Amino acid sequence: MRTPSLPSHPLAKPGTNHNPQKPLPAELSITPITASTLPAYRRLITLLLPIRYPDKFYEDSIANPTPSSLALCALWHETPRPGKRKLESLNDEMPSSTPATTEPEAKVIGGIQCRLEPLPCPPSTIPTCLISPLPQQQPHNLYIQTLAILSPYRSLGIATAILDAIISTTLTYYPCQNINVKEIYAHVWEANEEALEWYIKRGFEVEGEMVEGYYTKLRPSGARIVRRVVGVVDWVDAGGGWERKREESRDGVEREAEREVIGKARDGGG
Ligand SMILES: CC(C)(COP(=O)(O)OP(=O)(O)OC[C@H]1O[C@@H](n2cnc3c(N)ncnc32)[C@H](O)[C@@H]1OP(=O)(O)O)[C@@H](O)C(=O)NCCC(=O)NCCS
Repeated sequence: MRTPSLPSHPLAKPGTNHNPQKPLPAELSITPITASTLPAYRRLITLLLPIRYPDKFYEDSIANPTPSSLALCALWHETPRPGKRKLESLNDEMPSSTPATTEPEAKVIGGIQCRLEPLPCPPSTIPTCLISPLPQQQPHNLYIQTLAILSPYRSLGIATAILDAIISTTLTYYPCQNINVKEIYAHVWEANEEALEWYIKRGFEVEGEMVEGYYTKLRPSGARIVRRVVGVVDWVDAGGGWERKREESRDGVEREAEREVIGKARDGGG
């Protein structure tokens, strides 16, 4: 039996290109990185990104979620098993020694890793006697350190899905830690026009000033910062996450096919 899809909300996310005509592949799952997927994730990042990350970075990737790291990987299952794919919850404590639950044929095809950066708290204008004794939520930005998909698996909506998944996870996990995420941002190599375009289409704005010399091993060496506010729509989306979107997009395609069959029957066509 197919899981009933939640009603889609009326708000359109700025720049979101979620395409109901192109459902996400059934072979895809998005999960935390585990000890068993870490070597493949590390190889993928080393292959696709121009920055060499220290061992500590990769150690952090499986110690999810912490303020210093929040990471997810995209897995490709050669044998799609509808209904089995899911984004595993990061809200449960997940020790790095968690045994691998990945099937042997699942392949790491992409990943995203972020860290939280604290922002200065604005001075309070409320009299001290009125301030709640409850801990205040500390403002933070979410910085995307890595985002990469292996080239044969690009243009299938996987990077969009993994970005949505990390934002949903952030918004459902960190408020319990009294962390309030304000913005999400990343550095992009100035010559990587494809990635800059990709971020812009997903509601990010490119900051005017170039960060000169950001990439020591690349020429040109500058980086652009892309940034977007985490808003109400992200909170609404966090309720269902990327999996709901996949179900909705499948429903959309199926409804379209049904309409076509009914139309043909009505017209007497075959
Ligand atoms: C940039 C990068 C992460 C994009 O990955 P991707 O998986 O191809 O991205 P997506 O599939 O989500 O989006 C690409 C296209 O797929 C299309 N697409 C296909 N099916 C889709 C679906 N179900 N949902 C959404 N988009 C879909 C979209 O239309 C989109 O085109 P658009 O950007 O013109 O709107 C990838 O090219 C990459 O890894 N590059 C090398 C590393 C890099 O540059 N990283 C970023 C630097 S920080």
